[in-house]
Amino acid sequence: MINEQQIRELVGALEDPFLHRTLDETGGIVEVSIKEEKEHVSVKLAIAKINNAEQMQLQMKVVDTLKKAGVKTVGIRFEELPAEKLEQFRGTADVSEAQDILSPLNKVQIISVASGKGGVGKSTVSVNLAVALARMGKKVGLVDADIYGFSVPNMMGIEQNPVVRGNSIIPVERFGVKVISMDFFVDQNAPVVWRGPMLGKVLDQFFRDVEWGDLDFLLLDLPPGTGDVALDVHQMLPTSKELIVTTPHPTAAFVAARAGAMALKTEHEILGVVENMSWYESKSGEKEYVFGKGGGPKLAEELRTELLGQIPLGQPDWDENDFAPSVYGEDHPTGKLYGEIATKIVEKLGKGGEPAQNEGPVSPFDPRNN
Ligand SMILES: Nc1ncnc2c1ncn2[C@@H]1O[C@H](COP(=O)(O)OP(=O)(O)OP(=O)(O)O)[C@@H](O)[C@H]1O
Ligand SMILES: [Mg+2]
Repeated sequence: MINEQQIRELVGALEDPFLHRTLDETGGIVEVSIKEEKEHVSVKLAIAKINNAEQMQLQMKVVDTLKKAGVKTVGIRFEELPAEKLEQFRGTADVSEAQDILSPLNKVQIISVASGKGGVGKSTVSVNLAVALARMGKKVGLVDADIYGFSVPNMMGIEQNPVVRGNSIIPVERFGVKVISMDFFVDQNAPVVWRGPMLGKVLDQFFRDVEWGDLDFLLLDLPPGTGDVALDVHQMLPTSKELIVTTPHPTAAFVAARAGAMALKTEHEILGVVENMSWYESKSGEKEYVFGKGGGPKLAEELRTELLGQIPLGQPDWDENDFAPSVYGEDHPTGKLYGEIATKIVEKLGKGGEPAQNEGPVSPFDPRNN
């Protein structure tokens, strides 16, 4: 029967599917144990990212390798390599690997913009936040993940379509933001009727087949509610942080809390709350709370996160020569508010680096408590 030394050599020669280094180099062999009498070997391996197809492939390779060496049965457990280890390999990763949005080596901060219900301004917030981050000199991507109800290209006044180069799609750039949307891939005004698995594939393509290049931030404008797409995104992007948009009405905040509860259940960190349509400022400068008051602060408190900003009602100034109906100018009062929110986010997440520490335990918000 093969000994531990030999097992370490054989398994150690296999590669971590994400780091493209041998398990020997990554220190990926955590434990080896041998049961001589049963000719059974069990190994515990650490790789860059677990619970995926790549892990399955490696698993088969390990079993194959050990069986060829005479082992009868093989048990394998996986765990994730510690963050310091990943950091160590990040610098030396090849460029294409480090630019793969789904790779654990990519330093991009992914922010999904969610809400409990429709029409609260997710898309407006996503677009303006993306533009505000780009104005700060950040490299920003924006995915319109609302496959059926795409609206980002229209809101930003995008008229061209993305170029396809080889196997990849080059996103359209507008106000310094790289944008991808289903809108680019369907006929004008033809309804999109894709469902389920197809939908997952679209999102997957948005992440894998789009040449995002080097990004600091990738924003996702999610469809309303806590449906399939939102769940898919959570599964596909375990490191994404959630930004919750709500209107100031207390009941809207309850509904938004569901989106927050889902984020927490799937162990996604909540970045903060943005309250939209907070008030209307009349000509005399008086604030009228058209849609009620208090929803944003209350939601932030319930989710133990920060209220990042409150955006009043009001349209951007339209520039007929460079039409982008939903983008507020840099000097517009609302444009400035988005600038402040963007600054807070950059500070909170570090300069495209490590996320700030969580402030403490969070419990899912139960609207029945109110
Ligand atoms: N602060 C605001 N002041 C005035 N109008 C706004 C404001 N925010 C959003 N709107 C308008 O409200 C409508 C809904 O906004 P938006 O499309 O951003 O919401 P959404 O949450 O993305 O909606 P959906 O759930 O349909 O995706 C749009 O017509 C938008 O222009
Ligand atoms: Mg929308």
